[in-house]
Amino acid sequence: MLNFDFCSSTYYAFGKGTEKRVGELTKKFNGTKVLLHYGQGSVIKNGLLDVVRDSLNKENISFVELGGVLPNPRAELVYEGIELCKKEKVDFVIGLGGGSAIDSAKAIAVGALYDGDFWDFYEALATPENGLPVAAVLTLAATGSEGSNSSVISNMKLGKKYSLRSEFIYPVFSILNPEYTFTLPSYQTACGVVDMLSHVLERYLTNTQNVDLTDRLCEAVMQSLIYNGTKVMQDPENYDVRANLMWAGTLAHNNVLGVGREQDWSSHQMEHELSALYDVAHGAGLAVVLPAFMKFTLKKHVMRYAQLAHRVFKIDMNFDNPEETAKAGINAFIEFFKSLDMPVTFEELGAKEEDISTLAQKVRIKGGGDILGFFEPLTREDIEAIYRLMLEKNQHNW
Ligand code: NZQ
Ligand code: ZN
Repeated sequence: MLNFDFCSSTYYAFGKGTEKRVGELTKKFNGTKVLLHYGQGSVIKNGLLDVVRDSLNKENISFVELGGVLPNPRAELVYEGIELCKKEKVDFVIGLGGGSAIDSAKAIAVGALYDGDFWDFYEALATPENGLPVAAVLTLAATGSEGSNSSVISNMKLGKKYSLRSEFIYPVFSILNPEYTFTLPSYQTACGVVDMLSHVLERYLTNTQNVDLTDRLCEAVMQSLIYNGTKVMQDPENYDVRANLMWAGTLAHNNVLGVGREQDWSSHQMEHELSALYDVAHGAGLAVVLPAFMKFTLKKHVMRYAQLAHRVFKIDMNFDNPEETAKAGINAFIEFFKSLDMPVTFEELGAKEEDISTLAQKVRIKGGGDILGFFEPLTREDIEAIYRLMLEKNQHNW
């Protein structure tokens, strides 16, 4: 196991009725003037925004509002939010909704105390040195943004979808009431399940030895995601199923599963290019990328994939031919994604073969090197080959 620092500074309030505590918790964390930031209207339709307004009013905390966050949140609205915070002397930002609203709130929170252009942080041209406190009221189990130190913003003018990691964007508190996820369309629920699984997989697929504890924690979270992800499709208003999914999403990405091990994140980088070019949902993009990534890396990592297959999907270990076990596990993932009605090919996603070279050239390699990821270090040619595996003819025949 590798050395590590672990900080998960977020205060969580989980369960029914917790959204009524926004005022109390904002006060506890010294917020006096709040920006409420949300998306295209789901929080208005399901009544969450009204409950939050009442809760702040009860504590005599004033607030301003900025809605309109799009899925794959845009830099343009972040600039607007930063201006609003400066003009209204906001000292606390709350994102209400899914990962997009929360990520946009995080970008505003660090941008509001910065004299330069907030996009510098996402280009890694500058590092945040402070930020307004940011909090989250979550309505979609997916990204783990409610407990993560990351935010992902799309800059459509530049054709870039880039992420920032900073200790200043851990939410100070996050409120998670699973009841608010009942209204999710099944497509968004499924995208969330794939995203949560991928957050565990990007940590599970490692070369670090002797990490049995985190291996087994990862396997437990993956099993629970597959079990509850299947159930939620038939029974979307089952509180306990939604509750297990919601907490799994937080655990999948607050790094409790990733400490002490080298993590990969190549699949996420490849997916972000798909979202940037085609504006597809992050989870749907991952359902296409992950099978191709697993197939490409299988040969050099047979035993890791065989362990995954055996422990997560209960596939019998073929000791004479572990590659067969490993392959069966990858196929089980593909079948699971299909059972959720997720796309698994480029064509189903609406992506185009002729864009593959451009996509492969654009994939962001942090630090500016030539090699992506750690599990299997990938050259640009490898990345292109992985995108090609996502084509219909390759994804279904291997
Ligand atoms: O905009 P509204 O009206 O709120 O509708 C949203 C949106 O259309 C809707 N929705 C959310 N909660 C709902 C609901 N509809 C009905 N009932 C509810 N309870 O769902 C749609 C998608 O929302 P969005 O926030 O975009 O989805 P998600 O939570 O999957 O967030 C995706 C974004 O997060 C980034 C992704 O790249 C993508 O940009 N990620 C952020 C991470 C992080 N900060 O740690 C890590 C992830 O890997 C990911 O990259
Ligand atoms: Zn993700």
